[in-house]
Amino acid sequence: MSKSRTMRRLLLLLLGLWEAQSRAPSRPNFVLIVADDLGIGDPGCYGNKTLRTPNIDRLAEEGVKLTQHLAASPLCTPSRAAFMTGRYPVRSGMASQTRIGVFLFSASSGGLPNTEVTFARLLKDQGYATALIGKWHLGTHCHNNTDFCHHPSSHGFDYFHGLPVTNLRDCKPGAGSVFTQAVRVLVLAPLQALALALVTLGALRWLGLLPVPGVVFLVLLLLAAALLGLLLCFLHFFRPLNCFLMRGRAVSQQPLSYDNLTQRLTADAARFIRRNAERPFLLVFSCIQVHTALYASKDFAGKSKHGAYGDAAEEMDWGVGQLLNVLEELQLTNNTLVYFTSDQGAHVEEVTPKGERHGGSNGIFKGGKGNNWEGGIRVPGLLRWPGVLPAGVEIAEPTSNMDVFPTVAKLAGSPLPEDRIIDGRDLMPLLRGETQRSEHEFLFHYCNFYLNAVRWHPPNSSSVWKAFLFTPNFAPEGANGCFPTHVCFCHGHFVTRHHPPLLFDLSRDPRERRPVTPGAEPRFWEILEAMQEAAERHARTVVPVPNQLSVGRILWKPWLQMCCSSSPGLSCQCPRGEQD
Ligand SMILES: *[C@@H]1O[C@H](CO)[C@@H](O)[C@H](O)[C@H]1NC(C)=O
Ligand SMILES: *[C@@H]1O[C@H](CO)[C@@H](O)[C@H](O)[C@H]1NC(C)=O
Ligand SMILES: *[C@@H]1O[C@H](CO)[C@@H](O)[C@H](O)[C@H]1NC(C)=O
Ligand SMILES: *[C@@H]1O[C@H](CO)[C@@H](O)[C@H](O)[C@H]1NC(C)=O
Ligand SMILES: *[C@@H]1O[C@H](CO)[C@@H](O)[C@H](O)[C@H]1NC(C)=O
Repeated sequence: MSKSRTMRRLLLLLLGLWEAQSRAPSRPNFVLIVADDLGIGDPGCYGNKTLRTPNIDRLAEEGVKLTQHLAASPLCTPSRAAFMTGRYPVRSGMASQTRIGVFLFSASSGGLPNTEVTFARLLKDQGYATALIGKWHLGTHCHNNTDFCHHPSSHGFDYFHGLPVTNLRDCKPGAGSVFTQAVRVLVLAPLQALALALVTLGALRWLGLLPVPGVVFLVLLLLAAALLGLLLCFLHFFRPLNCFLMRGRAVSQQPLSYDNLTQRLTADAARFIRRNAERPFLLVFSCIQVHTALYASKDFAGKSKHGAYGDAAEEMDWGVGQLLNVLEELQLTNNTLVYFTSDQGAHVEEVTPKGERHGGSNGIFKGGKGNNWEGGIRVPGLLRWPGVLPAGVEIAEPTSNMDVFPTVAKLAGSPLPEDRIIDGRDLMPLLRGETQRSEHEFLFHYCNFYLNAVRWHPPNSSSVWKAFLFTPNFAPEGANGCFPTHVCFCHGHFVTRHHPPLLFDLSRDPRERRPVTPGAEPRFWEILEAMQEAAERHARTVVPVPNQLSVGRILWKPWLQMCCSSSPGLSCQCPRGEQD
């Protein structure tokens, strides 16, 4: 009797231990979903009443909703570099000193350097199966088109399927052009100058005022022809050369087809989860949408209340739901941390020539993609892990997309690299309610290479101060963005510098409407001084590195071009698009 009782006790104890073990937050799977250019005003759980995002909203209901989640940069390439490495983009050289802050060509030599460590590499070393499906935008090659030095496969991803560069209007026939339009403008001006020079010289010669040798005319004519040829080639070949899908290191569809693209990538992501259901995995699902060119399949086209943008966003939400369903079906829900964010705020200036809005909503916040007003950097941040993270909780503390790096590394049992500064902070104590304070007392907001603003959340205070060293010159007057240039630039006559810095208290003025004045805030100078000291301390930790977005590294280099080689000549197309 007593013996069987002891046995039962022992069994219960063992069962209890086993249960506790299985409940412990150890080595979960990770599904990290990054939308492109989705605004914080778009998902229903952030207050949108007309755009339907039931699946994204489900993450908020079943997990934690961050309301001051910040992208490390308001632009794709630097924001993604920071996300992958947990470090400010200036540390990896992924912050441009020119006007162009992102990669535009598949055959550029810049990219995330191999000296950087991504969370994918850490997790791969811990035995995780790792995949990136969707957009990469962090470079491909360095020296030749077989080195793949910047490719996802060189940064810890076992599997890659998607766009090496980015989705652009220019990639979709009939969707208009943004980039090729800009290039046309760039080439047309020198062409006009050349034509003018030719006519003037001709006239002078005809009048006998200047004996211009014929060879000068010939050279000018050849130059003009070359420029014109270049322009025509560029416009004609941009799409096949830059808009293609890869599977692993091979080109799989060139140019890419938008037919059912969201479905195809979602289905592939679901297959990756199924293949790895029995082992720990990391899936970065990096949505192509809702960056222009917008697209939606038959089931979604014309169904939303917000035109092509709404259709694409709702279809993306459907994709999120598909992945959640697969996790549920495989009973992986309680063992998987799902994260949802956007790489930056909505692109306010994305308006079609016909006046249709193709950019999303940043809710109450000012500005958007490309600038550091809250609308450019405050992004959705949702984390769900049933049983470990509370459900339906909202956290307003400042957090960053760089925090994913140390959070994921720690949960996977990986030590952090010790030879470098990691700017992200482990999110778990905040998410689990073990602390009420973010570890980010200061955050630094860069516009490309340039420190643009400092955020300070002082200890023992609910204030969140934000000081701008400069602000972009919105145009036209009174607009909420930089419409003539399509995106705001970060230096020169495109910005206004502020001495003293323009100070806001986001806790009282989240819309950044009323700068704090010395008269209204007695601690004005004291606050600015604390922020300046922090900025100086931070600046001392930034080591100069080669700039990956220099003109030389973002140019198109023919020898780095990837092509389906099966068709002869310059056409650079796969004979048959992939079917999946
Ligand atoms: C490409 O570059 C890599 C690294 O620089 C080198 O090892 C490789 O031999 C090169 N391949 C070709 C075909 O030149
Ligand atoms: C897209 O998917 C739908 C439904 O699955 C299918 O009927 C259609 O043929 C697909 N379109 C293309 C171009 O693959
Ligand atoms: C909801 O999203 C749509 C699409 O971005 C936008 O037009 C609309 O203004 C948003 N509504 C709110 C309340 O933010
Ligand atoms: C998953 O976790 C939730 C929350 O703790 C719990 O209610 C549910 O029963 C768990 N499901 C499974 C299959 O263990
Ligand atoms: C913040 O509050 C704690 C406890 O209330 C106190 O020990 C600490 O000195 C305070 N720090 C500052 C900077 O005021």
